[in-house]
Amino acid sequence: MNETIKNQLSHRSIRLFSDKAVPGDVVDTLLAVANRTASSSGYQQFSIIRVTDAEIKRRIALVCKQDYVNKLPEFFIFIADCYRNSRLAREQGHEDKSIYDTDRFFQAYTDACLAAQNVTNAIESLGLGAVYFGSIHNDPEEMINVLGLPEFTFPVLGLGFGYPGQDPQLKPRMGVPLKAFENQYKVFDNYLENIADYDKEMQTYYDLRDNGKRSDSFSEQIARKYLAFNKNRSLLLNAVKKQGFNLRIE
Ligand SMILES: Cc1cc2nc3c(=O)[nH]c(=O)nc-3n(C[C@H](O)[C@H](O)[C@H](O)COP(=O)(O)O)c2cc1C
Repeated sequence: MNETIKNQLSHRSIRLFSDKAVPGDVVDTLLAVANRTASSSGYQQFSIIRVTDAEIKRRIALVCKQDYVNKLPEFFIFIADCYRNSRLAREQGHEDKSIYDTDRFFQAYTDACLAAQNVTNAIESLGLGAVYFGSIHNDPEEMINVLGLPEFTFPVLGLGFGYPGQDPQLKPRMGVPLKAFENQYKVFDNYLENIADYDKEMQTYYDLRDNGKRSDSFSEQIARKYLAFNKNRSLLLNAVKKQGFNLRIE
């Protein structure tokens, strides 16, 4: 056990922040951490947009349907970004856009996610708190407009952070044996049975996001939420394709 791991094992999302501003040198350090993150083939196919403009935040809050976006002290959007490298290639006379295909897209998407989590670890190690916003995918085209994203780019995740203004309980996780296997994927005979203890534990979790209501069991939540259909989010690959990525779906 060391301080890094202690911090990682204390992770919880923070959605309410104090008024204390995040110092500029901390923001710079976090950007340096993002920049140092491993990247697929070393291509560095991600970018970060730091949102400081209240109107842009307001429009993103509408996409996310989460008012607390307006109150985030700091807000980064991680972008899968093949545009920069496409310019590097094209400025040398290479016009073949077909290289911006599924593989490049997933490389860039992975790069953006890894940078985001690396930054999150750094944020938490400094005693600040953070929350992700996958809800930017409620309307990817609006996000693309708001952020002025060029072709071969795609918004992956928002990350709000600052000094915590709440002290949430750690959200329980299912046991490691259900998720970590040796050599080959393990299929269980009965998932509900295996998850029964976790289901009980989850009912002791008070979700501040849900006005501090006690949670349903995990399996109840999943049964309910997996049924919910969100058209934009289900059709996300259409928006990816519109950004110029050739998905080569046969
Ligand atoms: C990819 C991703 C997207 C997320 N999107 C949102 C979001 O849009 N809004 C939000 O409030 N939390 C969001 N979260 C936070 C999760 O709800 C949270 O991590 C999860 O419920 C576990 O809780 P914990 O982080 O407090 O342990 C997201 C997390 C991840 C990893």
